[in-house]
Amino acid sequence: MSGLPESFAAIEGVEPARLELDGVSKSYGETTVLDRVSLTVARGEFVALVGPSGCGKSTLLKMVAGLEFPDAGHVRIAGTDVTDVRAADRDVAMVLQSYALYPHLTARQNLALPLVMRRLTGRQRLPFVGRFLPGTRAQLAAIGADVEKAGRALKIDHLLDRKPAAMSGGQRQRVALGRAMVRDPRLFLMDEPLSNLDASLRVHTRAEIVDLHKALGATTVYVTHDQEEALGMADRVAILHRGRLLQVASPEIVYRDPSRIEVASFIGSPSIGLIEAVIDDRGRAIVFDRPIAEGFAAQAGATVRVGIRPEHLRIGGHDDAILPARLDRTEFLGADALAHLRLPDGAPIVAKATPEIYRGFVPGPVGLAWNAADLLVFDAAGDRLRPRFDAATVTAERAHV
Ligand SMILES: Nc1ncnc2c1ncn2[C@@H]1O[C@H](COP(=O)(O)OP(=O)(O)O)[C@@H](O)[C@H]1O
Ligand SMILES: [Mg+2]
Repeated sequence: MSGLPESFAAIEGVEPARLELDGVSKSYGETTVLDRVSLTVARGEFVALVGPSGCGKSTLLKMVAGLEFPDAGHVRIAGTDVTDVRAADRDVAMVLQSYALYPHLTARQNLALPLVMRRLTGRQRLPFVGRFLPGTRAQLAAIGADVEKAGRALKIDHLLDRKPAAMSGGQRQRVALGRAMVRDPRLFLMDEPLSNLDASLRVHTRAEIVDLHKALGATTVYVTHDQEEALGMADRVAILHRGRLLQVASPEIVYRDPSRIEVASFIGSPSIGLIEAVIDDRGRAIVFDRPIAEGFAAQAGATVRVGIRPEHLRIGGHDDAILPARLDRTEFLGADALAHLRLPDGAPIVAKATPEIYRGFVPGPVGLAWNAADLLVFDAAGDRLRPRFDAATVTAERAHV
């Protein structure tokens, strides 16, 4: 790991824990917020829990922290059922979107507080008299050393004597991370910790959190609504949609091989294009009277949605076109460029490529093409529909436009 002087694990030597959620459900009144969520996070694993705002991410994280309790199901930490155990007894650290630092304490005092609360007895914590009790001085010295160590690891040692008001957002959030980490928790929970930071700081702090995770080896559940953050940071990504866990897999798998249409739509930016098609009696997906994919076992007449990622959509001449379209405009994004297109029915679809490829493109009629193997097809219920044979070997009938 880059730049970490020493591992936090040395501080207290707590073992990272395995986390198991087993059929966790939660309703508020009539509203089901979580519906039988089951998820296992291995010891030391970094799982990103991702989904649109309001899908239940924070509620799920609070169940793990012991700040909310499920109506049904179980939460186990290191094999122990903690479903009804309160937060203070779970040895779990949580970092929230808002920094939640004590404004009247310095960074050093903010970092030391959880250790003081944990390592000193109530009597040892008494003002003035406490420090004359046996062991207090040694404990405070050890806490001071651990705080220094955490400060160096998080590169906030120069800020330790500042109060939150004298720090930037990124610095405050690093102190908040440090305060959670200095405890060396068995389980580390983060709820959108970067969403208050500006874009460049977000990317930078993302890398720092990943580095820290590597150094600490703490089992981590990281909540975000930002799919890019989830893909970039996590060992595995868990996609939550309307209180249901749709898929849990590596970043590559959720991107390339989504099991549900909601996963395909949520992961990837710009979003996957979806074209509604009907299966004919030869198992082909037909749209605008043209076959655009084939090899499907679905019943003739069934409606499917054919998904194509922007980077897989090629804009070309009319000769090799699978579908005719209209180019509205191109958009320069630096390393990438987007082409905003319309299908024959006027529905928008986006293609992505390098700016060089779109140079000189003018609005007007174009032809669209793709490789059949890159298509992601879903049935009317949103489940993935896979071709019966390797679609890549099949040549789609070419449209003449
Ligand atoms: N204490 C509560 N009482 C009633 N509804 C709640 C409560 N907490 C959350 N909700 C509802 O549960 C849903 C999920 O919320 P939340 O877990 O905060 O979503 P997320 O973190 O994914 O944005 C939302 O519709 C929210 O309004
Ligand atoms: Mg939330």
